[in-house]
Amino acid sequence: MPYKILDKKELAMNEVWYKIHAPHVAKKVQPGQFVIVRAFPNGERIPLTPVTWDREEGWITLITFVRGKTTMRMANELKPGDEILNVAGPLGNPAPMEKFGRVLAIGLITGIVEVFPIARAWQEIGNEVTTLHVSPNPMVILREEFEQSVSRHIVEGFDLQPGWGMNEIAQELVKRATAKVRELLENEHFDMVLTVGPAGGQKAIFNVVKEYGIPMHADLHPIMVDATGMCGACRVTVGGEVKFACIDGPGFDAYKVDWDELIHRTGFYAPLERLALEHYLK
Ligand code: FES
Repeated sequence: MPYKILDKKELAMNEVWYKIHAPHVAKKVQPGQFVIVRAFPNGERIPLTPVTWDREEGWITLITFVRGKTTMRMANELKPGDEILNVAGPLGNPAPMEKFGRVLAIGLITGIVEVFPIARAWQEIGNEVTTLHVSPNPMVILREEFEQSVSRHIVEGFDLQPGWGMNEIAQELVKRATAKVRELLENEHFDMVLTVGPAGGQKAIFNVVKEYGIPMHADLHPIMVDATGMCGACRVTVGGEVKFACIDGPGFDAYKVDWDELIHRTGFYAPLERLALEHYLK
């Protein structure tokens, strides 16, 4: 039966792992691609990245960061044996599979989920991959999986302080990420950098990377609705041209991305998302 939840577990604070029967996705998905999940009738469509998959057995695994109404409903209401309404994909373009040399692949909080399939594949084709996960300590995930798959995995974790909200966490995240990236680039040679995470954090990392002139590939996370290039929700400006992250991305040359526009557009629906969550929690 398509889209049956074969297994589900909470990996860490607000991080839920699902193993889902989705043979058509498992058969074709490549690192860097994503799926659109619609879990409930009349529900929101959310983009998620297959972390692992088995082409023979026909399953994929997904990890959600529980932070909005839909991901919270999925965490609270779905259990193994239940069915997900729809899993569309694979969508988007695969990440470039090249021998770059020494690669630094950075995931901010749950962004590390998208880093995993790309970093593992880059390592497999002969790159020397260092992965860096910057995250609050209670949300550190996939540590063992990375340690088994790449040359070196670094976790830059930090404790959450009483009274911290999203702003304080974001500030600490950016501070830690930029300091660690600067330390690594100052002391070692890298041929390519990859980032996945919130746009503000990616921009801050890009500002450090460009000082060293290293090529950088950024996987972007604008709002997505249809993921077919029709609705325009995921519009980004890259190299002065309008692109749609769902069909032209999600990965782009970080040097060409209009980061300020992306940050502005990403925050556009935040008040409505908060409202939907408040209604659900009532
Ligand atoms: Fe609608 Fe990309 S999500 S155009």
